[in-house]
Amino acid sequence: GGAASFTEEEHGVSPSHLESGGLGRGSFPEGFVFGTATSAYQVEGMADKDGRGPSIWDVFIKAPGNSDSTPSLPPSEGVNPIMHLVRLPWTSITVTRIGNVSVDPLACIEIMGSGKVNWKGVAYYNRLINYMLKRGITPYANLNHYDLPQGLQEKYNGWLGHEVVKDFADYAEFCFKTFGDRVKNWMTFNEPRVIAALGYDDGYFAPGRCSKEFGNCTAGDSSTEPYIAAHNLILCHAAAVQRYKAKYQVKQKGRIGILLDFVWYEPLTRSKADNYAAQRARDFHVGWFMHPLVYGEYPKTMQNIVGKRLPKFTKEEVKMVKGSFDYVGINQYTAYYMYEPHPAKPKGVGYQQDWNAGFACKMLSLLAFPQTDILDVEITNERNGVPIGPREHSYWLYNVPWGLYKAVTYIKEHYGNPTVILAENGMDDPGNITLPEGLHDTTRINYFKGYMSELKKTIDEGANVIGYFAWSLLDNFEWRLGYTSRFGIVYVDFKTLKRYPKMSAYWFKQILERRKH
Ligand code: NOJ
Repeated sequence: GGAASFTEEEHGVSPSHLESGGLGRGSFPEGFVFGTATSAYQVEGMADKDGRGPSIWDVFIKAPGNSDSTPSLPPSEGVNPIMHLVRLPWTSITVTRIGNVSVDPLACIEIMGSGKVNWKGVAYYNRLINYMLKRGITPYANLNHYDLPQGLQEKYNGWLGHEVVKDFADYAEFCFKTFGDRVKNWMTFNEPRVIAALGYDDGYFAPGRCSKEFGNCTAGDSSTEPYIAAHNLILCHAAAVQRYKAKYQVKQKGRIGILLDFVWYEPLTRSKADNYAAQRARDFHVGWFMHPLVYGEYPKTMQNIVGKRLPKFTKEEVKMVKGSFDYVGINQYTAYYMYEPHPAKPKGVGYQQDWNAGFACKMLSLLAFPQTDILDVEITNERNGVPIGPREHSYWLYNVPWGLYKAVTYIKEHYGNPTVILAENGMDDPGNITLPEGLHDTTRINYFKGYMSELKKTIDEGANVIGYFAWSLLDNFEWRLGYTSRFGIVYVDFKTLKRYPKMSAYWFKQILERRKH
């Protein structure tokens, strides 16, 4: 395969490049899991092949300016020559491939026994899963990574429609039933906060809804829709978990959870006001989902600030939501300083204004839509002129390893030390980097060393972390940034689709072979 044709010598990989940074498999507890992550939409391609139906992202990226290019990579056919370098990858299944929405564009996800199953799509995931198992790779399958059948967007407004809860649970159950004899590690959603905030507050991600003030959106209400979407996502998650626990978990001996993005917010100063700003930011970010899952309700700060616009869980729903996870995946990349906004700050209309303490998404709005300078900024990347960390290619990504330490410790201390997987972590290079430069990714190796060392520290101090997954196995389609951002430990030539392991892939291989510290 592509990987085999490129040797370590050809890379000019020297022992010093591969220096482990004091890390090895043996630095982590027995049974600790290492892997890489990818997602269906970002790596599969073949968007209109073999019965795959359109998703909200297929529609979204067709609008001018919404992405730098469209995904065209073919699926891996279940055969990935470099997977053996690193073990245990996440993968996501997309319903647009297994629910036959192309037969009936408005068909919901009722694929169970209804004849609407796209068996070609099911066969694809069966090949992928079987191949992984054959190679000794344990699949960790996530049921949704940002995408949703376009048919459901049109039928009941996607995540805004309560109907989606039953449809999602049916789809999840189909997956448990079909793949659960071999897939023992499930996740319901990837980054529901991103779906809700970017999809419905600033319209930066599909389905691109927001109040007009925020950008180019023509429809949406940023003051209510992010909360409704998030609420339904939580209910979808909980309903899927309920089905798994009731009918499959005991027999299949598996576990299920959710993946949450967790930017660390550090108070800029020690002032009470800045501490409160940072706390609010965490509540409106990771707390938005962790709080209901652990305590059965939204954080108090959210309840107070959002007031009536924040949906409520019924008694029945609280029962279903509370405790609805065996483990939680944390996607951790970066950190920012937070500070209390100036009292004279102009009032806005959206979720971002509600938490009134800015965050990556607000920065996103500012950078992506400069016309939104009506927003005040209460987020900063420097303190006394010193940057929080070196910036990587993506404008939101600063290399701040101690942020991972604080984020994981925060989960341990605030949410009862749940079982955690560090489910995504990594950095990107520009899309147009040359092949030799791309392969010589010492910056990425250093990034991994820093973050993995901090992760080890949290474990040594008692955090219940059971795995680490690098984002990503392959250079892939980075949403709005299209192919202009490369996160892979394997370089992909987007024209020929040839794959070349980067130096970081060899570094991973090496530390995983090291039993000792
Ligand atoms: C978060 C997302 O889950 C993934 O889709 C994305 O590519 C990476 N982080 C990098 O931005």
